[in-house]
Order: sequence, then structure tokens, then C-alpha cells
Amino acid sequence: MDSSRYDRIEYRKCGNSGLKLPILALGLWHNFGGDAVPKQVDEMLIKAFESGITHFDLANNYGPPYGSAEEQFGRALKGALAGYRDELVISTKAGFDMWDGPYGRGGSRKYLISSLDQSLKRMGLEYVDIFYHHVPDHETPLEESMRALDQIVRTGKALYAGISNYPAALAREAFQMLKSMGTPVIIHQQKYNMFHREPEHGLFDVIREEGMGCITFSPLAQGLLTNKYLNGVPKESRIADPKGFLQGDSLNDQVLDKIRALNEIASQRGQSLAQLALVWNLRKPEVTSTIIGIRNTEQLEDNLKALENLTLSQEEENHIESIISS
Ligand SMILES: NC(=O)c1ccc[n+]([C@@H]2O[C@H](COP(=O)([O-])OP(=O)(O)OC[C@H]3O[C@@H](n4cnc5c(N)ncnc54)[C@H](OP(=O)(O)O)[C@@H]3O)[C@@H](O)[C@H]2O)c1
Repeated sequence: MDSSRYDRIEYRKCGNSGLKLPILALGLWHNFGGDAVPKQVDEMLIKAFESGITHFDLANNYGPPYGSAEEQFGRALKGALAGYRDELVISTKAGFDMWDGPYGRGGSRKYLISSLDQSLKRMGLEYVDIFYHHVPDHETPLEESMRALDQIVRTGKALYAGISNYPAALAREAFQMLKSMGTPVIIHQQKYNMFHREPEHGLFDVIREEGMGCITFSPLAQGLLTNKYLNGVPKESRIADPKGFLQGDSLNDQVLDKIRALNEIASQRGQSLAQLALVWNLRKPEVTSTIIGIRNTEQLEDNLKALENLTLSQEEENHIESIISS
């Protein structure tokens, strides 16, 4: 492995913690499941790692089927990535549905601890670097979920705790509760892109004030913020997948007009729209890192080129603002 890989990307401190994360992380939500071809999975993982991406983001139910992305990653850890465990930050999560019955979803101590045990087995790991509660569960007392996270790090099954999809006020409560227990909580994971700006309305303030890191997901709005849909819906795309999370109705004329106008700004900068969308995401001081998804190494290469020009002028930012807020 080329040791100059660490010169290729910026690493930002995750909040007030000592952990540094690459500004681009790779997520295994799509295209790393049971149907994925191991050789192609390995190519994408190695290409990412060789480019300085040290952080890989998983969850118990990434697949399909559920659990299979962790299995693929575990296979790669014994093969293509063997010997590099200590150079990797591996995260996983539990919160959404994973197995049948009342103990296979939510935020109970029962679910969080048993789910992480399963994740560790699937990946062949003794510990993950970050374990997240994936989504708030209003049926479980917050204290129960947070005490489960605390126990998980104290028993060494995760080095750090995180939360995901928590709205601002609940996130503050969760951070403060964990801090009062002495739990190493360092990060919040939240959707953020030009079409989804919810974190700007309170969450970023909480993150800054509580000294947390913030890792954003779906920076490309699952592919909408790329040149992918400029000329129709390609067969190989999330929208074309009827079981996919990105439905055709997310691509209406109004959205397409915005995509075209944003693409124009990207072209003027000599960038692809995907690259501009990443630069826009990373302009926020609260954002430690953003997690991209990819279908192949070409998409990864395109996205990595964003690193060549991360500066966004005030004029460009204003222009983007006028398009996305119209
Ligand atoms: N905490 C949570 O609740 C949560 C929720 C969602 C995601 N996440 C994490 O965030 C990660 C990323 O989410 P995401 O996959 O939605 O991110 P994304 O980067 O917004 O979308 C990825 C998709 O965009 C398309 N794409 C990527 N690069 C492209 C390029 N250069 N040109 C054209 N198209 C490109 C591909 O779609 P096609 O497949 O159509 O080609 C790819 O699968 C996930 O893997 C997961 O780790 C977390």
C-alpha cells in the first residue's frame, strides 16, 4: 500500500476528541450487500483506503439482506484490508429494524447490546471504533439507551459512542447525559445536503456548543446532486430500483431545474456537480466529515477530485443559496 495515501486527504478533529476523521468517509449502505461481487467490493474499499479514506461507515441492517454489508466488510478485513485494522475507523449502528420481534429494533438495552455483539461477529472484530444509536426511540427512556452506549464503551466493544438522526434538543440532552456518565461520546451523524438543510436549524449549534464532531450523510442527496439524472433516469441508478430508497417522485421538474443550475456553477468551477455538492457540505465548520455512497470506483474517483478545490467563494455560495432556496 502506498504510504503517501495520508497526504491525499485532510483529516479533521472530531469535535473536542483526539480522533481525526478524513473529510470524506465511505458508507456501505448500498452496493456492498449480499449480491455485491466480492472483487468489486474489494476494489472500492482498496481504492478508498489508498486515497486516504480511513473511515468506513456501516450499520447492522445494511445489505440487503440485513447484515450482509458487515459480512462483506468482515471478509475484506481478512483479505484485501488484512493487517490494516489499526489504520481504520470502523463504525456501526443499531436502531432501525434488524430482526423480528420487539428486541430487534428501537433503543432498548436488550437490542443495542445484542445487536452490536452480532455486528462484531459478522465483521470478525473485537471492537468497533464508533457505535451509534441509529435513530431516537420514543418508546425507550433516553437514559436506558444512553446507559447501554456507556456500557458498550466500558466493556471495550466500541471505543467511542455516537448518536444519529437525533433532533437538536434531544441530541443536546443525550450528549449531556453521556458526558455526565463520563462516556466518550464524540459524534452526531445526520443527513445534510443542498436539498436537506435541517441541521442548520439548531443541530449545528448544539454540535458546536457541546464540542461534538458531526458527520453528514447523503451529501449527494443519494445521487440527485450529480450529473446522473440530467438526461433521464439511467438503468443503473437508485431511482430505477423499484425497491430503492430514492423514489422517482423526488425528481420533478423543479428539482431538475435546480440540478441544472447547480451543474452550471460546478462547470464554471471546473468541477462536476458531485464535487461541488461535497465542497458545499464541507464548507461548514461544524462538519467534520461527510459520508459518500458509491456504485463503482469511477464514482469514487469523481468524488475524490472535490479535494482539489475545497474553496467556495462568498459569491458562489450566494449563487448556490439563491438556487436552492428558490
Ligand atoms: N445514519 C443514517 O440514518 C444514515 C442514513 C443514510 C445513509 N447513511 C450513511 O451515509 C452513507 C452515504 O449515504 P448515501 O449513499 O445516501 O450518499 P450519497 O453520496 O448522497 O449517494 C450515493 C449515491 O449517489 C450516486 N453517486 C455517487 N457518486 C456519484 C458520482 N460521482 N456521479 C454520479 N452519481 C454518483 C450513486 O447512486 P447510484 O447508485 O444511483 O449510481 C451512489 O450510490 C451510507 O452508505 C451510510 O453509511 C446513514
